Order: sequence, then structure tokens, then C-alpha cells
Amino acid sequence: MDSRELIKKALEAKEKAYVPYSHFHVGAALLTEDDTIYTGCNIEIASYSPTLCAERTAIFKAISEGHTKIKTIAVVGDSTPTYPCGVCRQVIREFGKDAKILIANSEDDYKEYTIDELLPHSFGPEDLDNAKK
Ligand code: THU
Repeated sequence: MDSRELIKKALEAKEKAYVPYSHFHVGAALLTEDDTIYTGCNIEIASYSPTLCAERTAIFKAISEGHTKIKTIAVVGDSTPTYPCGVCRQVIREFGKDAKILIANSEDDYKEYTIDELLPHSFGPEDLDNAKK
């Protein structure tokens, strides 16, 4: 699965976005360590706060199926480019410390990032090792 194919999956997922309030469509597709693909779209709820971003939809689908390591995640949205929100960056940090993050406008037009670039000086699981017990 190359970057182009994963971005295509994200574009397909974007078509499924349930966005009656913002009308802003986002799609994500990720590759797990064993090359399983999970996709997600954003899902909006009338009371707003339960709304789920596309990235977290895809990631939580993967986690709930037992895949806890993300190798690559592609994101596409109605603004070109669409970058993951802060909450999604923290979730990517949890499951994709070494992941390639593809921020794509199209299959041929994308940039690649690491989570250290998108969320520098992050707080993560290792920090909890320093908890006073
Ligand atoms: N959204 C995402 O799906 N991913 C992001 O990282 C940015 C924001 C969604 C949430 C909401 O449905 C819409 O975009 C507008 O904020």
C-alpha cells in the first residue's frame, strides 16, 4: 500500500462524512503495523460536543479491532490542506509515535509529517512513568 493508495482511501472515506452542521467534510485512512487499512469520516451530532473527527473515527476503529500501532495516516478535508486538530494530534501521538502523517490535497499533492513536527514537546505515556506512586 503506497501513499497514493492510502490517500485514495481517505478521499473515499471523506465522501461518507456526516456533516449536516458544518458542511465540512474530512476523511482519514490509516495503515496498521500489519498493513490493515482502517478509514474514517467526521460525524457531527446536533448537540455538537459528541462530534468525532475523521482521524479519531479511523483510529478508534483500528484500536477496537486490536490494532494499536499506526504506521501511516492520511488526512484529506475541504480546506486544502486540512491538518488534524489538537485533540487528534494527541491521539495520533498515543498510537503513532513514529507514524508518517500524510496531509493531502489529492493523491499527487501531499506533504508528509511526523507527530513530533505537528505536536512538539508532547505529553505521552512515558511521562506517566514519572508519577510518584
Ligand atoms: N474535523 C475533522 O474531522 N478533523 C480535524 O482534524 C479537523 C476538524 C471535523 C470536525 C467537524 O466535523 C468539522 O471538521 C468542522 O470542525
